[in-house]
Amino acid sequence: MEPAVAMIVPLVLALCTAMAGAAVVEHTFNVGAMNISQLCTKSVIYTANKQLPGPTIEANEGDTVVVHVVNESPYSLSVHWHGIFQLLNGWADGAYLITDCSIQPSGNFTYHFNITGQEGTLWWHAHSSLLRATIHGALIIKPRNGTAGYPFTVPYGEIPIVLGEWWNKNVYDVEIDAHLTGLGPTISDALTINGKPGDQTPCKGAGVYEMEVASNKTYLLRIINAAVNVELFFKLAGHKFTVVAVDASYTDPYATDIIVISPGQTVDALTTTSAPPGLYYMAAKVFDSKTVSIPFNTGTATGIVRYTKAPNNTVASMPAMPAHNDIVTAGTFYRSLTGLARPGDPAVPTTVNHSLVVEFGLDQEPCAPDQTKCKNFALVASMNGYSFQFPKNVCLLKALYDGLPTVYSEDFPMSPPPVPVIRKATSVMKVMYNEVVEVVLQSRAYRNNLGTESHPIHLHGFNFFVLAQGLGRFDPRARGVFNLVNPQVRNTVAVPGGGWAVIRFTANNPGMWFMHCHLDAHLPLGLGMVFDVLDGPAPNLLPPPPVGYPKCY
Ligand SMILES: *[C@@H]1O[C@H](CO)[C@@H](O)[C@H](O)[C@H]1NC(C)=O
Ligand SMILES: *[C@@H]1O[C@H](CO)[C@@H](O)[C@H](O)[C@H]1NC(C)=O
Ligand SMILES: *[C@@H]1O[C@H](CO)[C@@H](O)[C@H](O)[C@H]1NC(C)=O
Ligand SMILES: *[C@@H]1O[C@H](CO)[C@@H](O)[C@H](O)[C@H]1NC(C)=O
Ligand SMILES: *[C@@H]1O[C@H](CO)[C@@H](O)[C@H](O)[C@H]1NC(C)=O
Ligand SMILES: *[C@@H]1O[C@H](CO)[C@@H](O)[C@H](O)[C@H]1NC(C)=O
Ligand SMILES: *[C@@H]1O[C@H](CO)[C@@H](O)[C@H](O)[C@H]1NC(C)=O
Repeated sequence: MEPAVAMIVPLVLALCTAMAGAAVVEHTFNVGAMNISQLCTKSVIYTANKQLPGPTIEANEGDTVVVHVVNESPYSLSVHWHGIFQLLNGWADGAYLITDCSIQPSGNFTYHFNITGQEGTLWWHAHSSLLRATIHGALIIKPRNGTAGYPFTVPYGEIPIVLGEWWNKNVYDVEIDAHLTGLGPTISDALTINGKPGDQTPCKGAGVYEMEVASNKTYLLRIINAAVNVELFFKLAGHKFTVVAVDASYTDPYATDIIVISPGQTVDALTTTSAPPGLYYMAAKVFDSKTVSIPFNTGTATGIVRYTKAPNNTVASMPAMPAHNDIVTAGTFYRSLTGLARPGDPAVPTTVNHSLVVEFGLDQEPCAPDQTKCKNFALVASMNGYSFQFPKNVCLLKALYDGLPTVYSEDFPMSPPPVPVIRKATSVMKVMYNEVVEVVLQSRAYRNNLGTESHPIHLHGFNFFVLAQGLGRFDPRARGVFNLVNPQVRNTVAVPGGGWAVIRFTANNPGMWFMHCHLDAHLPLGLGMVFDVLDGPAPNLLPPPPVGYPKCY
């Protein structure tokens, strides 16, 4: 990967050194076309600063991040800072048509945000159409006092491992086709590790990501699932991992030889290079728990860990990967993590003000007239019977701020409808400031024999505690086994196919916050809803939009 380009404006820096060590981390992302030869094919893709993955943002907790996004692409786009709380700063969330109207071609916008109360690995990505397939990068947050603040032994080296998905075709066209067919995007042509597919694809000479390591050292891998539509298994031959954080929240150390990671999630894992000096493959392959046979990418992305003292002509060894549908391995990983509850960390709220059940899944509907390549039916997704419709030419946060009454309705239901119905609506759920919200996320069996699959549900603006998760229908007796002591803290939870997860968060951030499936394919189908968190007592108010904010009207 290219080194991160951190440009710090001297004047701002001078102002900041006075502010108890908090720094301003400033970047410019020129988003534009880039020629690339990948999988034996020449393609034009859109990236930030001609890098795939894009530039890494590195900051310390307490810093201010300023990113000038200059849109030199032909597409309008927003950039989402995935997992950043954006406390009293919802305008910078970059969720297209939820918090802004996207930066037009030839336009630019400067995102400003503070990083407060989170440490570990997050990431950033385009949040409009499939562009995030190539417009994404790592966002690394170190403790305020640097690596000395890690609640684990300071590693010898740190390496971002950005897992991705690659299409030879222009992803914008893939997205348009997804709508025309009504069946979602075609499967990707390859999985990638730090932008490269590795040497186990049909294309001889495809790029391979390599990292060089010294023997007997501990490295921190900052693993990000930036893939668009697939959960992944990740292994490193001959090595074990100790998970120390997920979604920029520390965990109790968890020893494992496999990482399971859904789109949107991150895992920080330590690994010690105690194997005989040699070459070792890291590998990523799809975890697919769908209960009906729908094609998915069955390839394996590989990268190589090369010991500096590896003898010449060593052949890299490959890790044994689980079967694609190994729900036991996936479930064990997801359920085993617990949060590292440190003094001063927010405790699990024990009273709940707002308790809801959100049931979601996919269904079939007749092809719409504009779906010209649609044959028998189109897919539609819903939460509690509402298939989320993005507003047109206005974004929800601005509509809220300007008091535009007709843009959305406030009738998102507290529970699934008793009889199956699907309404297409821009419906939000109103929540009072500081209410504790508990959501039973229930994945349902799809009607019309579409089967079940795992959905990674991502909440903007908040972390949540994952109190429990399981297969089948949520049974209220499971409340007895909620982890209220040290649950894992996340911004994205992989709800098992046909199963459930219970999350709890405190709505301490006024604004419009999207909660949606992070399989990009399900977003345009309507698998999302929005929490409208009302202003609290001053000063907990949504401020006015920032200068240059991408408006719609
Ligand atoms: C890509 O390559 C073509 C043909 O060589 C060239 O005309 C074009 O300017 C290149 N585009 C970029 C963004 O570098
Ligand atoms: C950003 O947009 C403003 C307003 O249109 C323009 O004046 C400025 O030159 C642009 N900056 C860049 C780097 O494109
Ligand atoms: C960041 O924090 C500083 C200091 O508390 C505050 O003045 C500023 O408004 C914050 N900026 C954003 C974008 O939230
Ligand atoms: C760094 O900060 C952490 C958390 O605030 C604290 O526990 C630790 O003692 C600090 N370490 C040093 C070397 O200052
Ligand atoms: C790594 O440490 C082990 C155990 O201390 C030792 O046996 C081995 O020789 C060391 N390997 C290298 C390459 O230093
Ligand atoms: C490995 O190959 C390199 C380059 O051909 C050579 O310089 C080096 O001496 C070789 N090392 C060993 C241990 O054979
Ligand atoms: C939430 O419920 C608790 C317990 O009933 C109550 O004390 C608190 O005021 C409620 N919070 C809000 C914001 O309504």
